[in-house]
Amino acid sequence: MPANPFHDRDIVSIKDFSKDDLEFIFDATDKVSQLRPSQRGELGKGRALGYIFYEPSTRTRMSFEAAMASLGGSSIGISDLKSSSVEKGESLADTIRVIDLYSDVIVLRHPMDGSSRYAAELSQNPIINAGSGSEEHPTQALLDLYTMLKEKKKIDGLSIAIIGDLKYGRTVYSLLYGLTNYDVDIHLVSPPSLQVRKESIYEVQGKLKITEHAELEDGALSDVDVIYVTRIQRERFPDLQEYEKVRGTYMIDEKTLAKAKPDVSIMHPLPRLDEISQNVDHTKNATYFKQASYGKELRAALLALMLNENITH
Ligand code: CP
Repeated sequence: MPANPFHDRDIVSIKDFSKDDLEFIFDATDKVSQLRPSQRGELGKGRALGYIFYEPSTRTRMSFEAAMASLGGSSIGISDLKSSSVEKGESLADTIRVIDLYSDVIVLRHPMDGSSRYAAELSQNPIINAGSGSEEHPTQALLDLYTMLKEKKKIDGLSIAIIGDLKYGRTVYSLLYGLTNYDVDIHLVSPPSLQVRKESIYEVQGKLKITEHAELEDGALSDVDVIYVTRIQRERFPDLQEYEKVRGTYMIDEKTLAKAKPDVSIMHPLPRLDEISQNVDHTKNATYFKQASYGKELRAALLALMLNENITH
């Protein structure tokens, strides 16, 4: 088995990992998922996960906590800044230095691009970027890629539509960077004002076959294997009038499914607002809750790999 590339390593950007690294963690996720609870419970025994979320979270925080508990470890953290010394004006740097004293691995969500890289420079223990501004959310991309692999049995050869707020949605950027390791067709579907930022298009073009569309029906629907839907990120708009112009632009519903491949997978990092009709939830195409469930398994494997040189028994 190749050496564990995740041991004691920061997870700041998915760009830091090769295709072999991605495949290593997908294999590890399969293995950790199949371990007996008693074996799994040894992988984080006596270790602590520290976290701080400067922005709200349901899935990322809870799946990390659930994952750490399943490894026999504990979690300590801050999700309500008002009850922490951040409220008194403590800096990010000092906050990270202190969490570093109490934990073996640190999960950070922060509204600023570059915040996790900065924290990684200050911390002795590894940092996991749980969302840095509109820049990246690398563990979301890992679980998104893992979901595609589990649902479609492959990633190479897939045709994937990514739809919604492609300008501010950080999951989109990590996913695109991760997908550069594969041979895939990408259809980017967004209003003109919410297209993927040009610097990122320059970064991935040549590695991905990309077509941009304003409408999902505009050639991006009938042939795709995956439709990855994103929420319009109201909180990142400098001008809420601009948000009002684009909210509700896209809605995936039964009519959409009728025009798509019968086995198309509908993915969404969640939370969803109104961009996927609840009528889709009961179809075989709805993959978003399964995706959230894979998140716990993938994060358990990631923590196990970060905390242990070797996780094989
Ligand atoms: N997908 C995701 O990051 O969800 P949360 O904001 O609930 O963590």
